[in-house]
Amino acid sequence: MQLMINDRNYEVPAEPERPLLWVLRDELGLTGTKFGCGVGVCGSCTVLIDGVATRSCLTSVSALEGRRIRTIEGLAVEEPDGSLKLHPVQQAFLEEQVPQCSYCMSGQMLTAVALLEKNPRPDDQDILDEMSRVYCRCGTYNRIQRAVKRAVEIQAGQA
Ligand code: FES
Ligand code: FES
Repeated sequence: MQLMINDRNYEVPAEPERPLLWVLRDELGLTGTKFGCGVGVCGSCTVLIDGVATRSCLTSVSALEGRRIRTIEGLAVEEPDGSLKLHPVQQAFLEEQVPQCSYCMSGQMLTAVALLEKNPRPDDQDILDEMSRVYCRCGTYNRIQRAVKRAVEIQAGQA
């Protein structure tokens, strides 16, 4: 079967019940998506499916043919000179020095991307509500809150 991931088609084994998380990591080498709990609680495995933040540990590949999947590897865009331009959310997480161990960060950033695509001007409560869906065992929540607000500014500046 074929999966469209980060605007590229991948041929993957047709194992309909296999969770997307393990196809990404084991078949395709897209290891930026992390395994945390495996039961849909922690959010470390979050990817975007048609723009919606989704737990890849609970999503079987059977439902995904023809859908647009984005992982952390697909957030930055390649410039004509071959350099990478970070997504505003990545840029903001860097500027605010959010990561500690980094294990939760792809899930955090993709959750933030989904939020900003749905709501480009979230208020503090919107950010708190959405970002509390992903656990950070290092407790970087205050920096995450600041970074999402910074991403809003960066994005507005680019508009
Ligand atoms: S690994 Fe998927 S929610 Fe924790
Ligand atoms: S930075 Fe370590 S779990 Fe979030």
